[in-house]
Amino acid sequence: MNILRGGVQEFFGLDIGTTALRVVELRSNAGVSSLLRYAYVPIDNKLALSDAPGDQQKVAQAIQQLIADAKITTKNVAVGLPSQRVFTAVVDIERLSNDELAKTIKFQADSLIPTPLDESKMDWSMIGDSPVDKTKVEVLLSSVANEFVEKRLDMLESIGLNVIAFEPDTFAITRALLAKDAAISTGATMVLDVGHKATDIIININGAPRLTRSIPTGSEAIIRSAMQNLNIDEAQAQQFVMKFGVSKEKLEGQILRAISATIDILTSEIEKSLKFFQTRYPSNKLDQIIVTGGASVIPEFPLFLANKFGINVEIGNAWRNVAYPRDRQNELLAISNQFGAAVGLAERVES
Ligand SMILES: Nc1ncnc2c1ncn2[C@@H]1O[C@H](COP(=O)(O)OP(=O)(O)O)[C@@H](O)[C@H]1O
Ligand SMILES: [Mg+2]
Repeated sequence: MNILRGGVQEFFGLDIGTTALRVVELRSNAGVSSLLRYAYVPIDNKLALSDAPGDQQKVAQAIQQLIADAKITTKNVAVGLPSQRVFTAVVDIERLSNDELAKTIKFQADSLIPTPLDESKMDWSMIGDSPVDKTKVEVLLSSVANEFVEKRLDMLESIGLNVIAFEPDTFAITRALLAKDAAISTGATMVLDVGHKATDIIININGAPRLTRSIPTGSEAIIRSAMQNLNIDEAQAQQFVMKFGVSKEKLEGQILRAISATIDILTSEIEKSLKFFQTRYPSNKLDQIIVTGGASVIPEFPLFLANKFGINVEIGNAWRNVAYPRDRQNELLAISNQFGAAVGLAERVES
């Protein structure tokens, strides 16, 4: 969803998350991205999700303040789109020239995206050969309601920003968390991002998404089940879940029991995605799950997944493709789990 292509040298990535606003600016030199600036500020989660003009104005003011505090001077910005608001899919399309492909996709849009084409912005990119039909290619599609992007655009332009691109958070997170040389591997990697209200599952081959799923269960639901089942308040539930996680031993496994029904929703969705993936791509083995967001800060959750699925589980590092001074390592790794989208947006290479 590039609004303006080419020519833009300086820009920053902006993640308007449910719980925080985050910005990252990188400098790219000879293929190496170095950290210039980053910043974040928590926001009330009701604000970010609200379409009310007054709330949007408050978000705009908070973004403006954050940019000033971070000392970002460029007005060019690449902005994330939350998975709940964007449709993404991998579809098989006849093997055609790029021009013909563009026409065909547009022509078939009604059957490809869930909303009418004239009410949506649609974007696509060719991934490669379809694994199920030799006459077809795989295309990664995304679409978003005009109404949503136009509101976002107005909000950002009201504080003088120039939006150079909108990109689904899931794609940005994938760019940040996967190794740049992922393109030479035949294996597949799942990225699992447990957000505040939703969890995203993205399975990638050669660094490109092949399966994306968003489920409306996130860290908020996990905390809520702890509150209800242990009869404690939110602050306490937050503290318990972040301290004891899904351990069977700590507190005699009380936390795990309290949140297990919610954890099961996530694991059964991971299982379904795995099955779907293996049916469509029988020759690509899923050999790694990279966790981020709430998934990487709930103690023992990565281990729990590794045991359950017999797959290597790694905690994602949002800065893995970014160069930065050694003495900033601790500070950057401490926020890595919530910075995937902002870093990935800043790593975009404009075409
Ligand atoms: N300060 C923090 N420490 C640890 N985890 C955090 C922090 N802030 C946010 N997170 C986690 O990062 C995830 C993503 O946050 P956010 O981007 O605000 O939500 P979403 O992606 O759902 O919009 C949340 O699930 C939350 O658990
Ligand atoms: Mg997010």
